[in-house]
Amino acid sequence: MNQIRFDLKKAANYDNLARKAVFGYDQLFTMVLSLLNEIQNKPANVLVVGSGTGMELITFGNLMPNWNLTGVDPSEEMIKISQAKIDYHKLNDRVKLKHGYIDNLPESEKFDAATLIFVLRFFPDRKKKLSLFQNIGKRLQPGAKLVIIDQYGDPSIDHFKYLLKAWINFMKLEGVPLELAKRIEAQAMEQSFFTEDELLNLLSEAGFEKPNHFYNSFMHGGWVFQKK
Ligand SMILES: C[S@@+](CC[C@H](N)C(=O)[O-])C[C@H]1O[C@@H](n2cnc3c(N)ncnc32)[C@H](O)[C@@H]1O
Repeated sequence: MNQIRFDLKKAANYDNLARKAVFGYDQLFTMVLSLLNEIQNKPANVLVVGSGTGMELITFGNLMPNWNLTGVDPSEEMIKISQAKIDYHKLNDRVKLKHGYIDNLPESEKFDAATLIFVLRFFPDRKKKLSLFQNIGKRLQPGAKLVIIDQYGDPSIDHFKYLLKAWINFMKLEGVPLELAKRIEAQAMEQSFFTEDELLNLLSEAGFEKPNHFYNSFMHGGWVFQKK
């Protein structure tokens, strides 16, 4: 099997698992597009932080032919996988990948919107989250939107525990083998959570305003903010 086909197969495996673990996973990306109404069907420069297997890049790239997209991701494997998808969809002239971190992007290039989808979980403490939001903010035009989706909540409270159990149940009902569902749960619990109040305070401190909570399923939430 050639490398591109191999990477596409790997991408399909990642994406299929995410589909079973996150309610409405595919629709989330069109939902995000629908929130970026000011720049829809207009020429725009959009930043995807933590571009992974390229879900945002491919969905946005295919549906918004006037957009230029930049994906940044520190994982070499994810970069290879998303590049294979970009090649397959013939989006090379408008979709660029940067292997690294947001700090590696020049502050001189300003984006009209940014997304941070299922990435915040890799930022364990307040200081690192704040620095990430500030770094994104420095690269956005005033008024640009930032869309964030991730796991959230307070793992110590009963409400969270109830939703966590329901989430495992959901995965089982969606056909995920119990052992795998348990592994996904263990991995999620090792990663970082935040409360909605913490998120709103951090974003406000980093220079964002007008929060809107647009999505919720079990312990996954989505918000859109605007750069002041
Ligand atoms: C769960 S995947 C989500 C990918 C994609 N956003 C999606 O929703 O399908 C998380 C991605 O974040 C990347 N990541 C981890 N730490 C990061 C960081 N500090 N900056 C940017 N991306 C990071 C990982 O390499 C991985 O590709």
